[in-house]
Amino acid sequence: MTKDLSNQKAVVAGGTSGIGLATAKMLFRLTGDVTVTGRDQKKLDALRVSDPELKVAALDSNDKNELTNFFSSTGSFDHLVITLSGAKGGGLFQELSLDDLREGFEKKFWPYLQTIQTALPYLSKNGSITILTASSTTARLSGTAGLAAINGALEVMVPILAKDLKPIRVNAISPGVIDTPWWNFLNEADKRATFEQFSEQIAVGRVGTAEEIAHAIVGVVANNYINGSTIFCNGGLS
Ligand SMILES: NC(=O)c1ccc[n+]([C@@H]2O[C@H](COP(=O)([O-])OP(=O)(O)OC[C@H]3O[C@@H](n4cnc5c(N)ncnc54)[C@H](OP(=O)(O)O)[C@@H]3O)[C@@H](O)[C@H]2O)c1
Repeated sequence: MTKDLSNQKAVVAGGTSGIGLATAKMLFRLTGDVTVTGRDQKKLDALRVSDPELKVAALDSNDKNELTNFFSSTGSFDHLVITLSGAKGGGLFQELSLDDLREGFEKKFWPYLQTIQTALPYLSKNGSITILTASSTTARLSGTAGLAAINGALEVMVPILAKDLKPIRVNAISPGVIDTPWWNFLNEADKRATFEQFSEQIAVGRVGTAEEIAHAIVGVVANNYINGSTIFCNGGLS
């Protein structure tokens, strides 16, 4: 059931930071060929120095032409992992700006679908697609209705995509609260306070690490019999 990933090619869309970067490093150890994409040239340049084994590509997944050029130049590959983040759409509903929520969909929902559609002609039939959603879809925490909507829209598609795109496997990993640069809109003190508050609602008593989510992603990529599923990796967040 478990794939030998050696000599396979993986693309991590949104892989220059956080969960995507941790996944890219882990996948590289198994496959030997991983390309990460991102928009910020500084992050890409830094990665060329810190992680020279990874291939890097400047790419905005909201831009259909850039996606088309990227996948046609990369050619055939085996595993697509999408870890792009939107980081918009959180907040109490009565205060939530619907423009922010719309932007959240623009920055996460649509680029995920566009990335998958553009990649399909190049993706191996024995390959896999793994997307990142969020446990806001099930945790029912106040202030997360908008984030739950964006990620829920993706999660409900997963089992259907697994049928439409068969035999390519399609899965989602749904993280809880994870300490990554996603939270850098908060200053360090506010971030620590927020993590402490969340920790009270997480059974294991702490927020997660990017590496813990990367483990779940790599496990799904490597397991031939996980398909059409959303795997929650959230320390028991409820
Ligand atoms: N951290 C959490 O607590 C948490 C919880 C639940 C779910 N998640 C989900 O997990 C996924 C990964 O999040 P993370 O915490 O690792 O976030 P992150 O550290 O902010 O990383 C996001 C990555 O996506 C890239 N990116 C964003 N928009 C892009 C675009 N249009 N085109 C290309 N690259 C783009 C960013 O690079 P550039 O900015 O340079 O483009 C960066 O490499 C996201 O889908 C997030 O919603 C995270």
